[in-house]
Amino acid sequence: MNEERGNSDQPLIGPSEIHREGKTLTRVSKNNDLTNKGPLARNYGSVFHNPAMSGSRTRSVLLMAHVIEEGLLGHSKIRALDGLSASGLRARRWLNELPENVSSRLIVTAADMDKSSLELIKNLDTEFPSKNGELNVLYGDLRSSVLTQGWHWIDIDPFGSPVSFLDTAIQALARRGVLEVSATDTAALSGSSKNPLMRRYGARVRLDKLKHDSGLRVLIANIARAAARHDRSIKPLLSIWDSHHLRVSVEVKKVMTGANNIEQSLGWRVYSPTKEEVSFSIKYGLLPSDLGEDLPIRCMLPLSYPIERQDPRISGPLWIGPIGNSLAMKSMSKERALELCGPEYIENDPAGWDQRQFEDERKKIIRSVRNISQEAIVIHGCHLIAVDELPGWFGKGGPPSPGRMVAEIQNLGFSAAISHYAEPSFRTDAPWSIVVNAFERISSTNI
Ligand SMILES: C[S@@+](CC[C@H](N)C(=O)[O-])C[C@H]1O[C@@H](n2cnc3c(N)ncnc32)[C@H](O)[C@@H]1O
Repeated sequence: MNEERGNSDQPLIGPSEIHREGKTLTRVSKNNDLTNKGPLARNYGSVFHNPAMSGSRTRSVLLMAHVIEEGLLGHSKIRALDGLSASGLRARRWLNELPENVSSRLIVTAADMDKSSLELIKNLDTEFPSKNGELNVLYGDLRSSVLTQGWHWIDIDPFGSPVSFLDTAIQALARRGVLEVSATDTAALSGSSKNPLMRRYGARVRLDKLKHDSGLRVLIANIARAAARHDRSIKPLLSIWDSHHLRVSVEVKKVMTGANNIEQSLGWRVYSPTKEEVSFSIKYGLLPSDLGEDLPIRCMLPLSYPIERQDPRISGPLWIGPIGNSLAMKSMSKERALELCGPEYIENDPAGWDQRQFEDERKKIIRSVRNISQEAIVIHGCHLIAVDELPGWFGKGGPPSPGRMVAEIQNLGFSAAISHYAEPSFRTDAPWSIVVNAFERISSTNI
């Protein structure tokens, strides 16, 4: 462990117990509620650990494995920053759970402005050393400390909004890098708190079944704008809404043309669009052309389309392109997740876990990637459809299961998959008339 300015006479986590997340051992305060499934208040005086973020940390391990193995970050050493590190569990999981050919190339830094965090990380690295790679700590306010060197990978996982960290993080990235960003200001991003949404993200989100997807797209649009300010362009790798937080991972490249073209990737989402709006969306390539007469529940429109900002049907400005990368998502299979992150039962386990606890952790790992590798084939699709909306929209029937809709659409010759989303839903690249057709078939067999 190398130390850069870390130094602590602060309290650590008080009475603690050994805990495991994925394949990595850590320590958590005995006061920590390990069953927590939602947001967790900042707890001054002890290092923060939220078990509800374990899925985000698992996906981070898998994404890093994919990106590095595909050579997207070159072939030499990789400097990765766990920017708001708290207990350093994410950084330690990268080093401990990535395959050796990847982790041995990593120089990982865990940063925090809380000295007790860094002290804890150093202690944990001594008690449970990682097999490969190198772990450093960096003390200070990330908004400036991130600029002390260049990074290939930066993770930003703040309390609340990530907006204030974006500009300097993007400037500190290598010519080609990955930025992972969490946001827990979900009431703002999903449109419930309109003023903070406008203040922080300059957008509006319609409160409906796709509000979480719109929130993700508003966040991506803000990252894309920050990147463009620094002559960079982004491509989303993975965008996930997970219980109480949003998480977006993007590839960032220093390419001036991409940065100049940013407006082509931004636009509006319109609920219950008019015929004219649908025609424009088709003309702009945001919907497939369709011989049917029915209008879809929603469509995207480019930024240049003249919309009325007060129109309650409209969300945006938001990212109108795909919110994930097909290959990256495909790599997140259940098998791969278990291979990298699934702990195997051992007797005399240091955490004192029995077989059932190991099994529960393996189930959690599987849940964290549910549907992602299947959805990969259709992440380019123009329709994300929450099935609960369909009966109301068509004025008949009950909500079909996403699986049945997917099967019907596939039978009709188009791609579709159940989505990893906050609502029972599926994604498809089919024209709207095919979705109508699939719904009709299911409704008629249910009579
Ligand atoms: C939500 S926690 C991070 C959780 C962690 N990434 C994980 O996976 O467990 C946020 C952390 O950021 C630290 N922090 C907050 N503002 C900061 C800033 N401006 N610079 C550096 N660290 C900061 C806090 O001390 C806290 O440890």
